[in-house]
Amino acid sequence: MQTPDLARPAPRPRWTVALALLALLAAAAPISSPAANSSGAQLASDKGCYNCHGDPPKKKAPTFAALAKDYAQYQGHPEQEAALAEKLRTGSFFGHIDAHERLSADTALALVRWIIRGSPPP
Ligand code: HEC
Repeated sequence: MQTPDLARPAPRPRWTVALALLALLAAAAPISSPAANSSGAQLASDKGCYNCHGDPPKKKAPTFAALAKDYAQYQGHPEQEAALAEKLRTGSFFGHIDAHERLSADTALALVRWIIRGSPPP
């Protein structure tokens, strides 16, 4: 039978704790950067969204104000955000929009969240 002393794990050296902290930081980083750090409006501008969704809009695109009004229904439903982002990226039934489909999952999510928040200016 083991004595309680032997069953106890050896104390970890400090550097393993430091490594674990670093790993945690690295894992957390993608959540806060780069998309979430810049404002949604800045991101939308960087990604060329205003080329069509500006005011006045182009190519039958709704303005961001109109989109935000529509997406307001998702406020308080964070579980829907990923699906909306995916819907944006995978394109509509009616046609392909490069600017939508080029988005990374992270960027699409950040933009969708910005629209749900009411697409506030920077
Ligand atoms: C080339 C023009 C064009 C560009 C650039 C563009 N869009 Fe669109 N977008 C449209 C059109 C047209 C629609 C409406 C038809 C549709 O939903 O596919 C639309 C629809 C949308 C919708 C509504 C999707 C839905 O059905 O719920 C969102 C959200 C959206 N765009 C976000 C963006 C974002 C964010 C960007 C920048 C990355 C962007 N768009 C860039 C033309 C564009």
